[in-house]
Amino acid sequence: PAAGSSAEPAAGEAAEPAADDAAEPAAPDGQAIPVDPAVRRSQRADFQSDAALALARRLGRPPRDIAAEVLGLADLGDLCRAEVSGPGFINLTVADSALGTLLSGMAAGERLGVVPPEVSETVVVDYSGPNVAKEMHVGHLRSTVIGDATVRLLEWLGHRVVRVNHLGDWGTPFGMLIEHLIDVGESEAAHDLSVGDLDSFYRAARVAFDADEAFGERARSRVVALQSGDADSRRLWRLLVEESEKYFLAVYDRLDVTLTEADFYPESFYNDLLGPVVDELDRLGLLTTSAGAACVFPHGFPGRDGRPLPIIVRKSDGGYGYGATDLAAIRHRTQTLGATRLLYVVGLPQRQHLEMVHQTAREAGWLSPPARAQHVGFGSVLGADGRMLRSRAGTNVKLIELLDEAVARAAELARSKSPDLDERTIAEVARAVGIGAVKYADLSTYRVKDYVFDWDRMLSLDGNTSAYLQYAHARIRSIFRRAGAVTARGDITVTEPAEHALALELLDFGDAVASTAETLEFHRLTGHLYTVATAFSAFFEQCPVLRAGDGVRDSRLALCDLTGRVLRQGLALLGIATPDRM
Ligand code: ARG
Repeated sequence: PAAGSSAEPAAGEAAEPAADDAAEPAAPDGQAIPVDPAVRRSQRADFQSDAALALARRLGRPPRDIAAEVLGLADLGDLCRAEVSGPGFINLTVADSALGTLLSGMAAGERLGVVPPEVSETVVVDYSGPNVAKEMHVGHLRSTVIGDATVRLLEWLGHRVVRVNHLGDWGTPFGMLIEHLIDVGESEAAHDLSVGDLDSFYRAARVAFDADEAFGERARSRVVALQSGDADSRRLWRLLVEESEKYFLAVYDRLDVTLTEADFYPESFYNDLLGPVVDELDRLGLLTTSAGAACVFPHGFPGRDGRPLPIIVRKSDGGYGYGATDLAAIRHRTQTLGATRLLYVVGLPQRQHLEMVHQTAREAGWLSPPARAQHVGFGSVLGADGRMLRSRAGTNVKLIELLDEAVARAAELARSKSPDLDERTIAEVARAVGIGAVKYADLSTYRVKDYVFDWDRMLSLDGNTSAYLQYAHARIRSIFRRAGAVTARGDITVTEPAEHALALELLDFGDAVASTAETLEFHRLTGHLYTVATAFSAFFEQCPVLRAGDGVRDSRLALCDLTGRVLRQGLALLGIATPDRM
């Protein structure tokens, strides 16, 4: 069966065909079997197919002969010119007229060539998930940025998306946090928490807990009181939660992401569901008691000693943990929210935990096809020294401060590059460029890799950065300001090589979006937008737009307009704004 063309660019012409013919079925005499046409983008022509090379051994014929025979039979009409090259490649060059027709069609619609999915699904996206009374760290930043791009993309494609912010607001630390709150005084503590001094609050509570036995005792009985619904403990706990939520919302606002209060599904939300979940696991025969704790042992997770690893559902003291909450959450997502695609935008260190939860859910019948879960894992953010990013004092970086610095640096950049902009425009540009830079640096690296946080590189105006793309977009808007028009939606005619090259990139937008939605690897989309912007810049250097003759001018304006829309929509899917002037 045809394997489908891969999203990877061709590695180069010299590559040996990798087809393992032993695994292919032999062609019965005179009967055709389908093969992957292996058509890829190429440096030599627009596209190249190396299928004839892969077939040569199987058919026992010279590859050039096969290629020539294929071309003899192919009915390419006016679509493209084809020729055999080298040892048996088929080179394809798309006709300018075909590109013009395709581009005009793309420009006439609102969806920019993006095909809606066959079925619209309910997708739950679990992301951000910071912990109450603790600073959000850069891992939460990555989760928030990738999750935000995910929800924007899937929503734009037409899916029903439920944003889920799995806030850590429950568990044993709350005993010590509440007792510390009492010691500090409620209003004092509220102040610390709302200005985002969360880490020092947490650390001070921890110090008291470790140093003072009486405090430790108070903390332990506070947890019991809280979990059994004691009104005053509840009130104090709410106070902690509310102040932290305010801080998180301030970060989301600064970061320009779509998360709101309505998307908080904190761990405590599942409290009443934990008992029923345990009962159901028990009824299904999935529960084992081990040293007083209720555990499940999902299939396929052997520990170091070869014995299966447990998820502890209920501890021997009767308390429920992180795992139980995730089990209740997954059941809620499929059964109550009706989700068929469950995405977990969580750092790679939690891979095994999530896979065990997913496997347990499958065994319990809470996750059966078409419903499926995917861990959208990601690597760490590193400092210039190659270690986890930390502040100068060696503590967690405060996210609000990091984002403020991004905006301040971008403002400086805007003031030096465009001295004629007024302060209001500078502020708007600075926010778009600064926040865009932070997001883009994250989204343009292969998700599972670590990346180095580097201000100079992420704010550079050339190279694969958001500023470069935003600048290309603003340049297009300025063409329209000079043309005295807002848009140009007429037909597009392709004649020049630079128009041809830009057309090929623009027409790839739909595929780039589709493969990004499938894999949630946003570097595919950023890489695509970057090639569009570089192709545009070559076009703009080589082809006059406003000075072109009448018919040509309209077509080129329409091409500019379409490019601007692709860049704007593409960046919007990543959560990045595109100011009209820069
Ligand atoms: N609060 C967790 C943390 O900071 C992240 C939550 C991830 N989501 C989940 N369903 N477990 O690590």
